[in-house]
Amino acid sequence: MSAILVSGGNALHGTVRVSGAKNSALKLMAASLLAPGTSVIHNVPDISDVALMADVLERLGARVKRDGHTLSVDAGEITSLEAPYDLVAQMRASIVVLGPLVARFGQARVALPGGCNIGSRKIDMHVRGLECLGVEVNLEHGFIEATAPAGLSGADVILDFPSVGATENLLMAAVLAKGTTTIENAAREPEIGDLVDMLVEMGAHIAGRGSSTLEITGVPELSPAEHTTVGDRIEAGTFLVAGAITGGEITVTGFAPAHLEMVLTKMSLAGCEFDLADDGATVRRTGPVRPVDVATLPFPGFPTDMQAQFMALMSIAEGGCLITENVFENRFMFADELKRMGADIDIEGHRAFVRGVPRLEGAPVRSPDLRGGAALVLAGLAAEGETLVTEVHHIMRGYEDFAGRLGALGADVRVLDD
Ligand code: UD1
Repeated sequence: MSAILVSGGNALHGTVRVSGAKNSALKLMAASLLAPGTSVIHNVPDISDVALMADVLERLGARVKRDGHTLSVDAGEITSLEAPYDLVAQMRASIVVLGPLVARFGQARVALPGGCNIGSRKIDMHVRGLECLGVEVNLEHGFIEATAPAGLSGADVILDFPSVGATENLLMAAVLAKGTTTIENAAREPEIGDLVDMLVEMGAHIAGRGSSTLEITGVPELSPAEHTTVGDRIEAGTFLVAGAITGGEITVTGFAPAHLEMVLTKMSLAGCEFDLADDGATVRRTGPVRPVDVATLPFPGFPTDMQAQFMALMSIAEGGCLITENVFENRFMFADELKRMGADIDIEGHRAFVRGVPRLEGAPVRSPDLRGGAALVLAGLAAEGETLVTEVHHIMRGYEDFAGRLGALGADVRVLDD
């Protein structure tokens, strides 16, 4: 699949259920490496990033089987401790195998992820944190080489910034360390709570779930677990914006509205109405879109992974607003594509000033990354005429059957194969 053709103008109606969270499932799969035997993970989305993580685990010797949305990972016989460049280069999140491998086997070699199209995305906090736990880390020949022949020892680690990936890598290393580890300024994203839950089910001792201080008391070994992935709050937010941007009414189920509170608040200020349930939300918009400023921040702040979708909504607001990106550099690339559709946006550094226009116009656009690509499809839903979004392999990294599910809500979207 290489492109999605959107004919704008249809208001979306109906119900859609979100998948399990991509950003959780990938880490739960890595956590399976911590215990010999077969862990079973339910509610795993069928997306290309999950397939890539399965490839990474299989290269290490694990056996991964998919049955619908359930994955089983048998990590009984790990035959290699190296995550190779050809896979890590395709998916940066592969770096989360580092913590579990070095914790269980005292050794790991993971290719350096390199740059990325949403900023330089450093790994210094992962490295420094592991060093605090007694791991010797060398960056050589394009690889991170981690060794801990005498095992890991608990320590106090303070993160410079609540990095999601560094918090997860350190958690998965600390669960098998000798003694107690404290991670301060830990990230609090719901996907980290989900990882904590699975680790506890495997026998780990972790206090402080959901807070910025995690206290982990190491245990000598863990056992496989069976776990259900938390619903994808970002996919939910994306569908809610689809409902709002088209002036429709849709119900999104399979996620906890508490995980999306800041997005729901900002969308309410923008003129959307919500009915909330334990397991989802209904959105409707009958009046105009009002301009609302947002600034991305770590959870519970406004998620950077919803910034592009929100900008698409703001591009048709009655007035101007300021969108500030505080988490990643270079995350406004999709704004240039949105401008091709008639949006009026000025970018200065990490700030975008968006002046709403009465109507977007369909245009050929290129998907620059996962969320930017999804946001362009949303813009196409609200635009006059046809929008051809190319390079949609980015969208497939994180959304299962995006076009099909929008179509079921009444959108006119067609997938064009190569
Ligand atoms: C994860 C998510 C991604 C989301 C992001 C922030 C996955 C697979 N991806 O990415 O969708 O947008 O959280 O919510 O879960 N940084 C450093 N040094 C480090 C680590 C990070 O400087 O050692 C910087 C990064 O360059 C970035 C910021 O910290 O500017 C946040 O990164 P981080 O929270 O680590 O994001 P990821 O785990 O990569």
